[in-house]
Amino acid sequence: MYDLFYGDNKMKQPFEDKRYAPVGVFDSGVGGLTVAREIMRQLPRESIIYFGDTARVPYGSKSKETILRYSRQIIHFLESKGVKAIVVACNTASAFALEEIRPEMKMPIIGVVKPGARVAAETTVNGRIGVIGTEGTVGSQIYTEMIHRHNPGAVVLGKACPLFVPLVEEGWLKDSITMEVAKRYLASFQESDIDTLILGCTHYPLLRSIIGEIMGDRVNLVNPAYETAQGLGRLLEEYQLANDGKGENSSASYRFFVSDAAEKFKNFANSILPCEIKEARLIHIEE
Ligand code: DGL
Repeated sequence: MYDLFYGDNKMKQPFEDKRYAPVGVFDSGVGGLTVAREIMRQLPRESIIYFGDTARVPYGSKSKETILRYSRQIIHFLESKGVKAIVVACNTASAFALEEIRPEMKMPIIGVVKPGARVAAETTVNGRIGVIGTEGTVGSQIYTEMIHRHNPGAVVLGKACPLFVPLVEEGWLKDSITMEVAKRYLASFQESDIDTLILGCTHYPLLRSIIGEIMGDRVNLVNPAYETAQGLGRLLEEYQLANDGKGENSSASYRFFVSDAAEKFKNFANSILPCEIKEARLIHIEE
């Protein structure tokens, strides 16, 4: 169970002194806020330091080498802020970088792909699962690989939906144009008899109502953000890193850093998070 979820987080030793430290969460930009939002809802005692790589988004069309380099830089930054665990809240970075980086880490790290793949593999009834994501995530076949670890006989059908990211960032969550684009992307699933569809990109949970309308009630939509927050909760307990609410400064705080366009990030964050963000600080991640 432990290994299936978290791979080789081998240094399983207690870090009680870090119980009240924040969790580091990163993404290529605003998308990972859907994961941060779930952590805020499910683990309200946990503080978060979020980094959105708004200067270098999108990750979905970049090479594995580039995503690895970016991810290492960001993890280094989050470590410098004293985080106790890292959440790779980006499907593309989880697909391309997580397994290579995990052995280099001195703290627990979790991505969004395994938790989403596991729940889809375990809940499908007819064994036919669709995955939508960026070109990078779908092309990497990572969801197929992870689903097959839990359900070797499952049929997995992938579809890259690159236009979804800019449509979400434009705020067109229920727009007729978004509906048209979604219909075209999802047409290939209509005849495929899938009963489960993984929203394998951070932005897609924000299109849940449109996607659900097109796919209908027979298709269960899996939001990896939800499963990741649950997985993070279990991981923190396992490492004795969960905030028990008993420390002096144990109430949750949230801090946000970006590599560009801080004001735009802040506005987007305030439109989807359950709390108000006062500031997103600009940093130069390459330095
Ligand atoms: N955060 C990315 C992901 O989940 C989507 C946006 C991008 O391409 O950078 O794959």
